[in-house]
Amino acid sequence: MKNGKAWYDTDGNVIHCHGGYIIQYDGYYYWYGENRLDNNYVSCYRSKDLKTWEFRNHVLTTDSKVEQLRFNMTTDLFKTDGVGNKIKVNIERPKVLYNKRINQFVMWAHYENGRDYLEAKCAIATCDTPDGDFVFRGAFNPYGYMSRDCTLFEDEDAAYFISASRDNADLHIYRLTEDYLNVDEHVRTLFQGEYREAPALFKKDGMYYMITSFCTGWAPNQGKFSKACAIGGQWTSLKNFGDETTYRSQPAFVLPVSKNGETKYYYFGDRWGGKGKKYFESTYVVLEIKFDENNDPYIIYEDEVPDFI
Ligand code: DGJ
Repeated sequence: MKNGKAWYDTDGNVIHCHGGYIIQYDGYYYWYGENRLDNNYVSCYRSKDLKTWEFRNHVLTTDSKVEQLRFNMTTDLFKTDGVGNKIKVNIERPKVLYNKRINQFVMWAHYENGRDYLEAKCAIATCDTPDGDFVFRGAFNPYGYMSRDCTLFEDEDAAYFISASRDNADLHIYRLTEDYLNVDEHVRTLFQGEYREAPALFKKDGMYYMITSFCTGWAPNQGKFSKACAIGGQWTSLKNFGDETTYRSQPAFVLPVSKNGETKYYYFGDRWGGKGKKYFESTYVVLEIKFDENNDPYIIYEDEVPDFI
């Protein structure tokens, strides 16, 4: 498997799982990501070795069931034009966590109306299996704030939703409620005026790391990282991660993989667009994250996708 080349599922179809996220559940890795073909929003694939991917389901589509979670949430999964045609909304950067308290898989994503990026909402969908038909629960502005590029991060004692706010100028960290169905506290505003997008968080040896891109639409730019001893504490100033285009990719997420008592951390990025592809389609770039003598993370480009397992 090569970085930046099309990857195929076990049926021989191109994998559409852009801006995605991977979780481990019941012996499998489940990969969720954007799929804008037909009436799809989010597709799900699963694998045991992170290389052989079986398509499971289009877990969120224009036809998904809708059950409003709370008063005043936007529940449109499509708009209708003047002559009755369905216009898709935008669902971007879907991330999923399993919540054991409610025994539900909870998806958070970025939601826009399909015309522009001005709603800047986060959306929630839930399902009782990892790859079943998710129910759309609606979209909202957390504490009234704009919320665009986003991610989830599950810590030992709580989970967090991180999203770009104030027209992408700042990045907010929200702690989630115990059921992961709402924000419980706006914990921190990071990188004031730095316009960071595409956040990806991970934790290694008690240290929190966040990788982000700059805000240049779908064009790649210099990745940066920051680290902190506590998620709501002081984060370091931004430092470069990867080269000036992050090897022509934008962060999607970081996956820790443990093998024989050792954990390795893998950067998953999207290389958006490219020859013959729509700007919102990507190929994937996966690189092992290494750490220098200051425990600062770095990546070195390789053509071949690493052997995970
Ligand atoms: C950059 C984001 O990272 C993408 O997910 C997408 O929202 C584009 N911007 C839209 O221009």
